Amino acid sequence: MIKFICTESEQQAGIRAAEIMAEVIKTRPNALIGLATGSTPLNMYAELVRKCSIGEISFKDVTTVNLDEYVGLTPDHEQSYYWFMWKNLFSHIDIEPENTHLPTGASPDPEKECINYDRLLDRLGSVDIQLLGIGHNGHIAFNEPDSHFPKDTTLVKLSDSTIEANSRFFDSKADVPSQAISMGIGRILRAKSILLLATGQGKADILEKALFGKITPTVPASILQFYQGELTVVTDKSAFSTIKEKHPRVNPE
Ligand code: PGA
Repeated sequence: MIKFICTESEQQAGIRAAEIMAEVIKTRPNALIGLATGSTPLNMYAELVRKCSIGEISFKDVTTVNLDEYVGLTPDHEQSYYWFMWKNLFSHIDIEPENTHLPTGASPDPEKECINYDRLLDRLGSVDIQLLGIGHNGHIAFNEPDSHFPKDTTLVKLSDSTIEANSRFFDSKADVPSQAISMGIGRILRAKSILLLATGQGKADILEKALFGKITPTVPASILQFYQGELTVVTDKSAFSTIKEKHPRVNPE
């Protein structure tokens, strides 16, 4: 069963998502948390930083593992996800740097890095809560529309639509890396709980398609319909609009 939470604004969606994360950390101070990048979780990260700064939560014993990283970008590249995580979260909280994990995008052997990342995931064990965003094409992490659902961490070729969408962060479209290392969908589904965060009108149709449409690797997020753990979907009103229109019986919190 999917639990829907629909909030008035993008900012409130971030605050609500942070409350859910904070609850996990309070219940389990040494939680293993799966993190994501992108514009969507920025409000959530800001709220987690605030909660940590007032002592409501501590990341002292928390371990984090990120979904993906661009191939070829070094950690000090401003568009690397490593940089993103430090800028928006890690540098502002009391987390131990050695407890934060992302794939090494600048690895000379990205295929081997995928294997290494899976070994790390095996060592770390089950993720307590995995944060996910959703791409306009239905991707989760960088698992792009494909003919199958990748099980393990893989080297992926980014789709044109993803390169286009992410080019807003780079000087030009040509600067967007064409490949990424992405946690596989099989790995993502091993998490004990999943928090899917989606905001803005641009995500309304794909969110409905993913959660109510045909389960197909051409819409990678549609696999979440088979997820056995606890799936909470936090949205703002705009992102929830197509679900509201097509599925009036869905009653969000
Ligand atoms: P966004 O990306 O938050 O920047 O929209 C989400 C995603 O691609 O998963």
